[in-house]
Amino acid sequence: MRVRVVRARHFKGRTSAPGDKSISHRALILAALSNGTCQIENLAPGADVGSTANCLVRLGAGIEMRAGAATVQGTGGSLGRPTEVLDCGNSGTTMRLLSGVIAGGQVEAILDGDSSLRRRPMSRILEPLRQMGTQAIGRSGQAGGETAPLQFWRSRGLVGRTHQLPIASAQVKGCLLLAGMSAEGETIVREPAQSRDHTERMLKAFGAPLHISEDGAIAIRRPDKPFVVPGRLDVPGDPSSAAFLVAAALLVPGSEVTIDRVDVNPTRSGFFEALRRMGAPVEMDSEDAHAGEPTARIVARSASELRATEIEPKEIPALIDEVPILSILATQASGTTVIRGAGELRLKESDRLTQIATGLRAMGADVRELADGLEITGPSNLAGATIDSQGDHRIAMSFAIAGLIADGETQIENAQWADISF
Ligand code: S3P
Repeated sequence: MRVRVVRARHFKGRTSAPGDKSISHRALILAALSNGTCQIENLAPGADVGSTANCLVRLGAGIEMRAGAATVQGTGGSLGRPTEVLDCGNSGTTMRLLSGVIAGGQVEAILDGDSSLRRRPMSRILEPLRQMGTQAIGRSGQAGGETAPLQFWRSRGLVGRTHQLPIASAQVKGCLLLAGMSAEGETIVREPAQSRDHTERMLKAFGAPLHISEDGAIAIRRPDKPFVVPGRLDVPGDPSSAAFLVAAALLVPGSEVTIDRVDVNPTRSGFFEALRRMGAPVEMDSEDAHAGEPTARIVARSASELRATEIEPKEIPALIDEVPILSILATQASGTTVIRGAGELRLKESDRLTQIATGLRAMGADVRELADGLEITGPSNLAGATIDSQGDHRIAMSFAIAGLIADGETQIENAQWADISF
């Protein structure tokens, strides 16, 4: 699908962001592992969460999906052996979190995904899972490590281990914590920087024996009794989706948007912290917590001026998915915005550093691609160009926003990939 975008006169309105994708995956998984029925409201609408739901049904959960909601009948932790390959589609979160569930559930299963997911690194979960006793293997990937499809065999029982993660990754952390819930003894996960903590928050909220020490080490044991989730869970709005609406309001003159109930978990709020440094007129008013997560109403208005900022490596985990849209904003900020320590972006749905640099250059921005980041000097006038999403939802969305302030017409090729999350 090709979407054509032209300059916007203004961008105004009040809305709520779609349900958070990361929290939606976890809500479905924990409800599927629990004893009982859970009604999940404001579930993320995109295809990725649909992939998790479909795989969980094949593993024995009863899931009824409606627009923006799901009713989940849990398995009580005893998973069924799927008779077909578990198709994770485009979703790294589905594949990595479910690998932990399957390892813990001791079922035989094959996990696969689309051509983008088949390129993404899976040794980062398979190696620590094997240390716990899982019998699983991936296909040999081009860069040496293992990639999908992944084959899991029925293993004899997992043993808890201490894992020191080489990279901050909530998918890897979540995978090991989910496996740890079925392991004998304690499973401990340490990461080099804190990644999003939705798995920990939700497990704790549901009474799982999870403990976080002062140095950040997360320890989990097998619960004594079957897991129980509340009858109803309300997923807060996705800050990564809200970021596009906020950026549009900041960039287009005469704009104002209000977005209700956005998740403002500090492990996800790096984008808003960067905006504050850039001098962006964004207000946040706290609202009620949902699913153990803090939320806020966000109001963003056109920015008369933005200042460049430096994003340090330690900030990356809290804004990893917002680097594409932050880069669009950086083209309108005065000075050079430097983003470093973001090499993981080369391993996302596409090589996002190259995609951002190529797209921005095509639109006339001043951008330099670094091995682990970007340097963007602004402000510069953007010109409409043809941008191919290359199957990456965040690239499709980010350049559609850039098109709102560009001269002439911007064409987004393969724009349908935006459906993955929005
Ligand atoms: C996610 C974790 C992040 C993020 C992804 C969603 C999650 O990936 O980029 O979009 O829900 O756990 P990594 O765990 O690979 O950093």
